[in-house]
Amino acid sequence: MSFSSILAEEHEGGVLLVTVNRPGKLNALNRVVIDELEECFRGARDNSDVRAVVLTGAGTRAFVAGADIGEFAGLSAEAAEQLARRGQKVFLQIERLRKPVIAAVNGFALGGGCELALACHIRVAADNASFGQPEVNLGIIPGYGGTQRLPRLVGRGRAAEMLMSGDRISAQRAYEVGLVNAVVPADDLIENALALASTLASKAPLAVTAILESLHYCEGHLADGLAQEAMLFGSVLGTEDAREGVAAFLEKRKAEFKGR
Ligand code: COA
Repeated sequence: MSFSSILAEEHEGGVLLVTVNRPGKLNALNRVVIDELEECFRGARDNSDVRAVVLTGAGTRAFVAGADIGEFAGLSAEAAEQLARRGQKVFLQIERLRKPVIAAVNGFALGGGCELALACHIRVAADNASFGQPEVNLGIIPGYGGTQRLPRLVGRGRAAEMLMSGDRISAQRAYEVGLVNAVVPADDLIENALALASTLASKAPLAVTAILESLHYCEGHLADGLAQEAMLFGSVLGTEDAREGVAAFLEKRKAEFKGR
């Protein structure tokens, strides 16, 4: 498989290492990355040699610093809802892969990056990683499942605080609240994630598949929640505040919100 904005390498033991590869933009998820992730995970599903996947970000600073904010400028509410639905579909495809998917979080996991990690089955974080849903600081909301998967993992109260404050939490704090399974030294992250993936890949494949299938049903009405989130993402993105928040980020200044 050959891509422009992600890397996919097969490792020993049937483990596929997928790297979002836009380090100059802190691996922000633009349309190309979303399309390539879809194709890559479709390939992982259909390739019987692939038994587990590790997902990470290129460079040392970021796993993924969010959806590409540049693509939000000028979007209508309808187009924004479509953008959210598109990202949700690809993240759901990752979550629904019936092979273990481990996020190796090597730095900022913000906005769509936190949501991408949440869509993986397991998260291992470097000790310098941080997590957050800073959309509120742009006058918008998460659109790739964050309002649905974050509370399922850390509880509604903690999720409400993260979503409404936009604050980042450390890897250690993410471990304490159950957002990540383990924190490891940054230099050992990929080795640790590959080792865990290789262990899971060595287990009985039909049993692993059945566990992942069954786990999916512990999530209640995820589809309804995702549809609601996409609709709200669209309606918020169409506001004056969202235009101001996105413009302020791109112009590297503080946003001034007016509540309209
Ligand atoms: N979308 C588009 N571009 C992004 C981005 C995103 N989500 N996150 C970072 N970038 C770009 C920056 O615009 C900058 O590009 P430039 O060099 O062409 O100007 C580059 O990545 C490096 O980021 P920069 O902001 O200069 O790094 P920093 O160390 O000062 O700050 C962050 C790092 C993560 C705190 C900051 O980039 C940030 O707040 N990113 C947005 C996070 C966010 O709101 N995510 C949710 C989006 S819905």
